[in-house]
Amino acid sequence: DKAGFKHFMAKEIAEQPVVLQGALSHYITADGTGVTLPDPGIDFTKVERMTMVACGTAFYACLVAKYWFEQVAQIPVEVDVASEFRYREPPVTPGTVALFVSQSGETADTLAALRYMDGKADKIVSVVNVPESSIARESDLPLPILAGTEIGVASTKAFTCQLTTLALLALNAAHARGHLSQEDLSAKLAALTGLPGLISQALGIEEKSRKISRKLVEARDILFLGRGAMYPLALEGALKLKEISYIHAEAYASGELKHGPIALVDKHVPVIVMAPRDALFDKTVSNMQEVMARGGKVLLITDKTGAKEAGEGVWDTITMPEIDPFLAPILYAVPAQLLAYHTAVAKGTDVDQPRNLAKSVTVE
Ligand code: F6R
Repeated sequence: DKAGFKHFMAKEIAEQPVVLQGALSHYITADGTGVTLPDPGIDFTKVERMTMVACGTAFYACLVAKYWFEQVAQIPVEVDVASEFRYREPPVTPGTVALFVSQSGETADTLAALRYMDGKADKIVSVVNVPESSIARESDLPLPILAGTEIGVASTKAFTCQLTTLALLALNAAHARGHLSQEDLSAKLAALTGLPGLISQALGIEEKSRKISRKLVEARDILFLGRGAMYPLALEGALKLKEISYIHAEAYASGELKHGPIALVDKHVPVIVMAPRDALFDKTVSNMQEVMARGGKVLLITDKTGAKEAGEGVWDTITMPEIDPFLAPILYAVPAQLLAYHTAVAKGTDVDQPRNLAKSVTVE
C-alpha cells in the first residue's frame, strides 16, 4: 500500500521521521541518559578493532560509522565490501569485533563474510532490518534498525535507520571506553532525539529538489563531492541517482578531485557538493571553487551559515537545517534521496523497480 504516494520510494522517504523516532525510543533509555543493547550486549573496553562488512548502501553506512567509531570511541575500524572481504580472507586477531550491516539480512556475500568471521572474531554484531533473517540469526548480537518493511529497491529509510543505530552504538562504545562523559553522552542522545524533527524540516526541500532535478535530467554525468563523514554521503547520492535515473554519477572525496576527476569538469557536468558548515567546510569550499573556476556547475548542499559564506557564484543551493556535525550524515541522506527520486520521476523511469536490480541479492 503506497498510502497515497506515487511510489513506495516516496512513501519510504516520507516515513523517515516516524521510523527514526521508533528506533530512537527503542534504544535510548526512558531517562535519556543511556543506550540499551539486547543481552548479552558488548564489553567495549575489551575491543581493539572493528571490522565492518556490507554491500551497496549498507556499505556506505559502514563508511560513515568508521568516522564515528574512530572519532568518538577511539576504536580503529576497517571497512570492506563483502564480495572482496570474503575472498581476501584477512587474518583476524583477538579483540576484533565483526559488524555486518544488511537491510534484508540475506545478502549472499555479506552472509558468507559473516560465516568466515564466525569463530575468528570475538563477537559478531549485525545491524539488520529483518529480525528473522539469516544474518540476524547467525550473529551474537543482532541489532534491529526498526525501519519497517522497505519495498522500493533503492534503499532510503533503511539507510537512515542503519546510521542511527550505528551512531547509538558508537556513542555507547565511546562512553564505555571513557572517551565520552555522562554529560556529553546525554547531550548527544538529546541531539539524536531532535533528529526526527530535523528530518521533517529537511523534507521541506522537496519542491526545490524537484526543480533542480528537472535540470539534472539533461546531464550525462554528475559528480558528487564530500569530505570526512560526508564523503560516504556523496557515494550514496551517486549510487541512488545511478540506480533509479540511470544517469552516470560518481562520487569522490573532495580532496581527491585534483588527482584526476577534475579533468572531467566542464560546463555540462553538474557537481553536487555536500558540505554542512563543519570543521572541514573551508577545505571543501576551496575544492568547490576549483570546480567553478573550470566552468563546472556547482549545486551546494549546505546549511544557512554555509550558504551565506560560500553560496556566491554557485549554480544552485539547497539549504538544510543546522545540525550537530556528528549527526549531519543522517540528515544529508534526505537531499541524496530526493534528488535521485525526482530526477528519476522527471525521466520517467521505473522508480520502485529499476532495471537489472533486485531488492535482495541472494546470489553472489
Ligand atoms: C541501494 C541498495 C543496495 C543494497 C545492497 C545491500 O539502494 O538498495 O545497494 O544496499 O544490495 O543489501 P542489504 O542491505 O539487503 O544487504
